[in-house]
Amino acid sequence: MSSSTVITNIAALVTNDPSLGDGSPLGLVRDAAVAIDGDRITWTGESSKAPATDNRLDAGGRAVLPGFVDSHSHLLFAGDRTEEFAARMSGRPYSAGGIRTTVAATRAATDAELEANLTRYLAEALRQGTTTFETKSGYGLTAADESRALRIAARHTDEVTFLGAHIVAPELADDPAAYVALVTGEMLDACAPHARWIDVFCEKGAFDGDQARAVLTAGRARGLHPRIHANQLSQGPGVQLAVELDAASADHCTHLTDADVDALASGSTVATLLPGAEFSTRAEWPDARRLLDAGATVALSTDCNPGSSFTSSVPFCIALAVRDMGMTPDEAVWSATAGGAAALRRDDIGRLTPGAYADLTLLDAPSHVHLAYRPGVPLVSGVWRRGVRVV
Ligand code: NIG
Ligand code: FE
Repeated sequence: MSSSTVITNIAALVTNDPSLGDGSPLGLVRDAAVAIDGDRITWTGESSKAPATDNRLDAGGRAVLPGFVDSHSHLLFAGDRTEEFAARMSGRPYSAGGIRTTVAATRAATDAELEANLTRYLAEALRQGTTTFETKSGYGLTAADESRALRIAARHTDEVTFLGAHIVAPELADDPAAYVALVTGEMLDACAPHARWIDVFCEKGAFDGDQARAVLTAGRARGLHPRIHANQLSQGPGVQLAVELDAASADHCTHLTDADVDALASGSTVATLLPGAEFSTRAEWPDARRLLDAGATVALSTDCNPGSSFTSSVPFCIALAVRDMGMTPDEAVWSATAGGAAALRRDDIGRLTPGAYADLTLLDAPSHVHLAYRPGVPLVSGVWRRGVRVV
């Protein structure tokens, strides 16, 4: 693609700018065009008003939307947990304990193996329309293993999260206080230069509210911004802590009290829902409808990891959210694009309006609604990242 291109004949263009098109949050423009110059969007509107160019690309009456923003994944790991999944599907419940299996495999892997695994899942995600992804450490649990995971991640994305506080490292299982001291001390020193975010798994069997607070405030003092695995397996202090610390996102939000919902609705912390986890653990769905009706901002992401949600597919998560979590197709598409951007506190992605990065997905369908209407069908037929066609 040359540096200036206009994509025309778009049947339905999701801009996520409510001042455009139908005036809905999606800012849906019918019979639309979008102009790209270099790595940015320069113009969006009706095809008949598109700027003149020598370089036109006919979308053939199909839908275009912003590239998906997957704001929650765990892609620095080795091995998989096929047997654990099969056992779970025959009745064994999910618990945080399985994480140790992946920690052992990850520690044993070479840097090249970890990076090859990461790039494989990134390519998979890109083919399914994901143009921005966040990813976390959390399967190393020593200063050396966590920092090497983050160094590898940082070669592929700016959205890197230090999750040393995923579980207590097996060798310190009898002394969680010593592990928290390690995470907030030597491990943080080694990891902070390579990350933007700090995360903690606040849950029974992982870290309690006081430990989570200690981890997040230590990270914040080193310039990392907080985000939290909160209220995934049970009610607990995670969501309230997220809002109190102005975390960018509280992730999972499956088991919420009314006070948690109110806190999310009144603060600027995004509720990131991860339906792949409930699908793969046969757990109760998060109630997106309740959060949306209360006024909370909701993001949808994959949580791609080998234990609780081994999917890299945002379209799959959109379909689940519409079918089982009370979201409309429009809401789910917004949450997987603009919602993900909000969960990463970004305004340069997740929208197709002038100034935003030219990150676009072309569907082999006349409407974004087909992402939920045609579940499991590979509808993504074109992806542009930073103005360059990559799929
Ligand atoms: O987000 N909840 C904590 N961490 C992951 C699961 C990690 C694993 O099972 O390996 C999650 O679901
Ligand atoms: Fe997660």
